[in-house]
Amino acid sequence: MPRIGVLTGGGDAPGLNAAIRAIVRTAATHKIDVLGIRLGWKGLLTNDTMPLTLDRIDELLYRGGTVLGTSRTNPYKEKDGPGQVRKTLASNHLDALIAMGGEDTIGVAAKLFAEGLPIVGVPKTIDNDLDATQFTIGFHTALDIVTEAMDRLRTTAESHDRVMIVEIMGRHAGWLAAYAGIAGGADAVLVPEFPTKLQDLCNILRKCRDRGKNYCLIAVAEGAEVIGENGEKISSQSEAPVDAFGHVQLGGIADRLKDLVKKKTGYDTRSTILGHVQRGGSPTAFDRILATAFGVRAVELVKKKEFGKMPALVGGQITAVPLSDAVARLKTLTPEVYQLAQVFFG
Ligand code: F6P
Repeated sequence: MPRIGVLTGGGDAPGLNAAIRAIVRTAATHKIDVLGIRLGWKGLLTNDTMPLTLDRIDELLYRGGTVLGTSRTNPYKEKDGPGQVRKTLASNHLDALIAMGGEDTIGVAAKLFAEGLPIVGVPKTIDNDLDATQFTIGFHTALDIVTEAMDRLRTTAESHDRVMIVEIMGRHAGWLAAYAGIAGGADAVLVPEFPTKLQDLCNILRKCRDRGKNYCLIAVAEGAEVIGENGEKISSQSEAPVDAFGHVQLGGIADRLKDLVKKKTGYDTRSTILGHVQRGGSPTAFDRILATAFGVRAVELVKKKEFGKMPALVGGQITAVPLSDAVARLKTLTPEVYQLAQVFFG
């Protein structure tokens, strides 16, 4: 019986478990055995596996996180990492691997495929910045969570005549901040792709008050670029060491902006960092369906030996795209979506 391994890498995302369930169910219909690899690429370096059988997956459709666990391990940063990956695949008699992840995990998958390994990807990240697919697993759920948080912050902001600055995940891309800004009625959206001057932000807030609104909501992506009065960058960057993919830990731009906005405008200003709440809990119906469709297609790709590809959502259809297309560049926020949010600034 053919046998495939499945792993989840990078930050977790709601819907990963639904995709695991779809993979196991579809594989069973093709008489393919599935082995879970624990903790992303780390599990292939340490031979950490778990069985994924039909009796273990019933509850996975609506469960958040990933039962396989995840890590930000990069095999290309470990001594003979790719060699060890090969060895673990061989020792477990795996004919193929399905790697679910974002730019880092799919980037490693693309490299290993180029070196001859039979790999299929599945796109997930709440940041939605993986290219060649319109949406990734987890984005929609995170968007709902952030939108609900903004609705809640609005009522308290309104009661206290306050400016509320909401910090939203999004390291290099402002998809989540922009979409949540549109859905949650933000008076300004700050993202990495379109830098904002602090002065312009303060003017937006004044404009908001001038038209009679007693409160303001600002959606700021954690990786947003805001330029201070003397041209200095106001950012989230922390002192924490970079991870195996070279990413710094972000967080705190909302706090920095709160102090500056307060000082410049005199408005009572508060900050909220939503943090990992955005990645937790049950997936939305959309993410369950997307994850299910991606999981089913991933097994079909393995069955047809169409390696080096991943399922993708393109023009409303599930299709398959080369892994190399998904990681050739980062999918950043388009001017069209930013401009839609901008209509409601101030
Ligand atoms: O999943 C992507 C992401 O959510 C980024 O937006 C964020 O910067 C990062 O993960 C946080 O990851 P960690 O769980 O390592 O703090």
